[in-house]
Amino acid sequence: MEQWRMAIFLLSWFTVHAVYGHHTNSSGLLVSALDTVFHVTAYGADPTGKVDSTDAIIAAISDALNLPGSGFLMNGIVNLGGARIDLDGGSYLISRPVQFPVSGRGNLLIHGGSLKASNIFPNGGYMIDLSPASPGGLEYNYEFVTLRDLLLDSNYRGGGIQVVKSLRINIDNCYITHFTTVGISVQGGHETSIRHSYLGQHITAGGDNGERYFTGTGIELLGNDNSINDVVIFSAALGILIAGQANIISEVHCYNKATGFGGTGIYLRLPGLTQTRIVNSYFDFTGIVAEDPVQFTVSNSFFLGDAYIVLKSIKGVANAVTIVDNMFSGSGKGIDIVQLDQNMGPFKQIEQVVVDRNNVNGMNLKSTIARARVQGTGSSWVADFNSALVFPNLIRRVDYTFITDDTAFPMHALRNVSGNKVVIQSQAPLPASVFITACQGE
Ligand SMILES: *[C@@H]1O[C@H](CO)[C@@H](O)[C@H](O)[C@H]1NC(C)=O
Ligand SMILES: *[C@@H]1O[C@H](CO)[C@@H](O)[C@H](O)[C@H]1NC(C)=O
Repeated sequence: MEQWRMAIFLLSWFTVHAVYGHHTNSSGLLVSALDTVFHVTAYGADPTGKVDSTDAIIAAISDALNLPGSGFLMNGIVNLGGARIDLDGGSYLISRPVQFPVSGRGNLLIHGGSLKASNIFPNGGYMIDLSPASPGGLEYNYEFVTLRDLLLDSNYRGGGIQVVKSLRINIDNCYITHFTTVGISVQGGHETSIRHSYLGQHITAGGDNGERYFTGTGIELLGNDNSINDVVIFSAALGILIAGQANIISEVHCYNKATGFGGTGIYLRLPGLTQTRIVNSYFDFTGIVAEDPVQFTVSNSFFLGDAYIVLKSIKGVANAVTIVDNMFSGSGKGIDIVQLDQNMGPFKQIEQVVVDRNNVNGMNLKSTIARARVQGTGSSWVADFNSALVFPNLIRRVDYTFITDDTAFPMHALRNVSGNKVVIQSQAPLPASVFITACQGE
């Protein structure tokens, strides 16, 4: 019986360890059976963060990038099969960017530790730099590289992560701090996914005495088709900068720098169609600015502390803008939830703009569809929609219901919509209630 048990035990032990690709060596330490897991400590990196580990980390990455791989992903991108660079839960000092020596690699993971920029780290550099040291002239530099479970401390020397002309890059569960430029910069390429991460220039949890001095940008998306999901930006002058198309932002909490101190949660910059969706997010004393928005949605989001949305005219275009089903909470100062910045000229092309079904507490509700009831005896009923409508002097359509107890059968008509004031007149004086809906859309 004992031998049977032993045989079964050994069989299952070998099966499990073969499946997981590990064995214990003669020192009793778990080592990889496959040579596709690269422990930076095995390359001499110092997990206590005292000695510069840049060369060791880059050597581990180089070995991973030089694996033969198994075929190709996108054209010219070697599939590394899921090679892993393991930071072994250590904290490492680096004195220059961790930059890949070659381009054209994919299916690779860097995970599990902290990096801190040293005092000689080049100013403005990115700690992890996915732009190749020697560009290979490929359409995309990297594909399916995952950066996970990392804390990056830029030590006020530069940025956190840079992703250039790459495809399907994942940044997951990262904490990026002490950056002076940009926490995560995505340039060109597409489908970078940034999720479950925290970014802040200073480590604070709000109400920081130095908030007015916060600088830098949490994330910039200078490209198309990226997503930011479940991310908190807790300190930076600007939370997210977007200059590209078809990016989606969801479940983001911006409390990076209050609007009152000159901060912005999300800034959408020209040129190009924005095609941006911002959904289910939380703007905490800081808002959204969109330049000439075209196909732009903000919905199911929460704006706290008098935070609001600005539509900023550059060439005067606002086309297909949907701001619906959001909650706004403020201090009772009458701040408008949607505002226009027309310093560079008025909006001239306003099409399909819908601001509606938002709710407010202590702020002024603005909509593109406004309703009023006007009651009185006379021959004129006037509703002034200026405080309710988003755009000045723009009413494209009016619906009204004219109700009177008068025995006469009155003639009445819409006479004027100039200056967002709707005037309904009757031929002869009489008592009436008039319900008016004014619409700035079609
Ligand atoms: C066992 O593996 C560890 C970790 O890779 C290594 O440091 C150690 O030298 C190995 N011991 C022997 C006897 O091979
Ligand atoms: C509409 O009202 C404006 C502003 O009061 C006025 O200048 C304009 O003449 C009016 N138009 C008509 C058709 O009455």
